[in-house]
Amino acid sequence: MEKENKMEKIVSLCKRRGFVFPGSEIYGGLAGIYDYGPYGVELRQNIKQYFWDKFISEREDIYGMGAAILMPACVWEASGHTKLFTDPLVECKICHERVRADQPEVIADHESKHKKEKVTWTEPVTFNLLVETKLGASENTTTKVNLRGEITQGVHVNFKNILDSMHPKIPFGIGQIGKAFRNEITPRDFLFRQREFEQMELQYYIKPNDEEGDRQYEYWKQFAFDWYLGLGFKKENLRWRKHDSDELAHYAKDAWDIEYNTPFAGWKEAWGVHHRKDWDLKRHSEYSKTDLSYYNEETKERFIPWDIECSGGVDRAFLFVLLEAYTEDELGGENRIYLKLSPKLAPIKVAVFPLLKNKPELVSKAKEIYQKLKKEFGTVEFDDNGNIGKRYRRQDEIGTPYCITIDFDTIEKGEGVTVRDRDTGKQERISENDLFSYLKEKMI
Ligand code: GAP
Repeated sequence: MEKENKMEKIVSLCKRRGFVFPGSEIYGGLAGIYDYGPYGVELRQNIKQYFWDKFISEREDIYGMGAAILMPACVWEASGHTKLFTDPLVECKICHERVRADQPEVIADHESKHKKEKVTWTEPVTFNLLVETKLGASENTTTKVNLRGEITQGVHVNFKNILDSMHPKIPFGIGQIGKAFRNEITPRDFLFRQREFEQMELQYYIKPNDEEGDRQYEYWKQFAFDWYLGLGFKKENLRWRKHDSDELAHYAKDAWDIEYNTPFAGWKEAWGVHHRKDWDLKRHSEYSKTDLSYYNEETKERFIPWDIECSGGVDRAFLFVLLEAYTEDELGGENRIYLKLSPKLAPIKVAVFPLLKNKPELVSKAKEIYQKLKKEFGTVEFDDNGNIGKRYRRQDEIGTPYCITIDFDTIEKGEGVTVRDRDTGKQERISENDLFSYLKEKMI
């Protein structure tokens, strides 16, 4: 499969099968904005649940929270984003399109559009990525606010609230999932670089010393890598990359990215682990004039903790999971496409079919089994449209791990149902009594 081609195939599958649609499409769309369809929201939800389970629910030292998207402009002045959250922008002197100056592939793409003319560019200027809006009912009472450029600041501004309400013992963390907004100069590559996207993050607060910093940093790097692998990636398709000092974000003392080997542009950032030291809490203490220090009861010390951050994009994980799972093969002499998703991520866990639509006894038995499975596995689908081959093809393309067919032997001979495995296409006959435990075991 050609590399470029794979991305086009994913975009097309996402639209055809109800995963992702261009935002406000019937009005011509909006660059860098996408809407998620019925299977898309399920897959996203499963990725987020996996994050929440591993980074929050299964931990004793981490709290979850959900901060607001809108924050006053002063938060972003304190965090440094108003001045420093920028990308270099250049404008094409022929058509006046503006693009990012630090992305050679974007520049080359644009220059190739002007075929015969030689493109010249304006000098780069810094362009701030924060999205602004206003709140308030009248001109004199409106307040300038920003849609958060990273979900992180919602956690830092609540640091004191968490101390006062939860009395945590250091080290401890606060995890969050939510939307972030960036006025990206050149949104591109489908879900990879959007203007509205979702992040999953952990801010882990630690004692402020180098030894503890190094230890925790290594621990969270390994934790994040293992988590990302758990989405179903081949190990050779993920790698670490350390940020050069000139590309570090203004808040980071050190930063490492987990990168995915994409078919559309080679190695690209999937997830970041950042050593933010005391940048955020110190700045918010100073700007808000609120004491954001931590008092350690055991050592009787008061200090501003350091922060080790894990930060990943939900949409980027979604895209990379699809790119990794997309498979073409030949089955029964026919070409087919299937998504090799792990059962924990698959939007639909099981599909149930009556062999024939016009045989009420098959349909009612299939409905009965469908209802029972739905109670146990949640997202289970009933399908009696078209022939069985077509139903399998549809479920293969949305990544359903198991399809169950109720046929005449189920009813007349009590011989159980057939269970078809998505990856091999092989069918097994399983008794109705064993069906639950059989599927449960397979889903782990
Ligand atoms: N709080 C730290 C932070 O926001 P970042 O590297 O700017 O760090 C973290 O973003 C993650 O968010 C990235 O690794 C990526 O997965 C995702 N992300 C960032 N910008 C994005 C965009 N424009 N579209 C989609 N995902 C994005």
